[in-house]
Amino acid sequence: MNLEEIHVSVLLKEVLYYLNLKQGDIIFDGTLGGAGHTVEIIKAIAPTGKVIGVDLNSQTISTAASRLKDFSGNVVLVNDNFANIKKILKRINIKSIDGMLLDLGLSSFLIEKSRRGFSYLKNEKLDMRFGNGDIGAFDVVNKYSQGKLTEIFWKYGEERWSKSIAKNIVNHRKSGDIKTTGELVEIIKDSIPRKFKYQRRGHPAKRIFQAIRMEVNKELDNLKMAIEDGFKMLRSGGRMVIISYHSLEDRMVKSSFLEYEGKCTCPPDFPVCKCGRKKRAEIITKKVVRPGLEEISSNPRSKSARLRVLEKL
Ligand SMILES: C[S@@+](CC[C@H](N)C(=O)[O-])C[C@H]1O[C@@H](n2cnc3c(N)ncnc32)[C@H](O)[C@@H]1O
Repeated sequence: MNLEEIHVSVLLKEVLYYLNLKQGDIIFDGTLGGAGHTVEIIKAIAPTGKVIGVDLNSQTISTAASRLKDFSGNVVLVNDNFANIKKILKRINIKSIDGMLLDLGLSSFLIEKSRRGFSYLKNEKLDMRFGNGDIGAFDVVNKYSQGKLTEIFWKYGEERWSKSIAKNIVNHRKSGDIKTTGELVEIIKDSIPRKFKYQRRGHPAKRIFQAIRMEVNKELDNLKMAIEDGFKMLRSGGRMVIISYHSLEDRMVKSSFLEYEGKCTCPPDFPVCKCGRKKRAEIITKKVVRPGLEEISSNPRSKSARLRVLEKL
């Protein structure tokens, strides 16, 4: 099965609408994935426009390259971290962009085919790296202290049983390394009291897998840097479109956008503004955009998607 056959792009129509595309535009797609968004963006900006398609996962880049072979004049593929947007654009001599898209999270390819241990439904080696970073899920699970594990499970996974799961992981390590996702899933299941295990929505390991993945890939740090440096690279009138799937990511996008919009943060009783915030952008999506029922029923993975858009002044 090919990558493009299994990843369904989320909020596709909305992304195309909000990027406000014109012929000749230069668009930075920081999360190329199955290239579903990129292909449609290219159609709108061709024949002279270009997409800079970036992905941290090299297998993803090679598979996307074959999907994009008919559009080779309109796309530059880069295997890198979107947080390096400034360096990437400098390397290819691009001074500013008309739009930037980030569609965060996992592609179907990473879950189903990458063999990197992203899925709690498969028994694979503990890894969860998008790229080739130094630290993988094996290191987090086998080397982090009980306190640090509890902290990330709670912070990134909001897992109610964080403490007992971390304690059981550390206990299991006494009889050898935890090497596979299958072993980890069993430890998680054993740490949740029986009567709660079957009451909760979703798989018992879902939140812990999400937390480990966010820690391994430093997802919030990368997002912060991409927003800051991406904003610098946008031309006046250019738009930043971000789809997030986690409440902490969405909160970061929302608060950064408000900062660029220059919303004064002084206490209401201050006679004059002292925070000095200046309006540098306009938030286009006054309310967050979410997929409709039809999209959710045809693509359940879109359910938690939240899209926000900012236009630089
Ligand atoms: C949800 S998928 C994107 C799907 C894509 N929009 C489509 O329509 O097919 C997210 C992709 O972002 C990549 N990714 C995640 N974090 C990244 C980062 N910091 N830098 C570059 N790529 C990243 C993942 O490898 C994955 O392929």
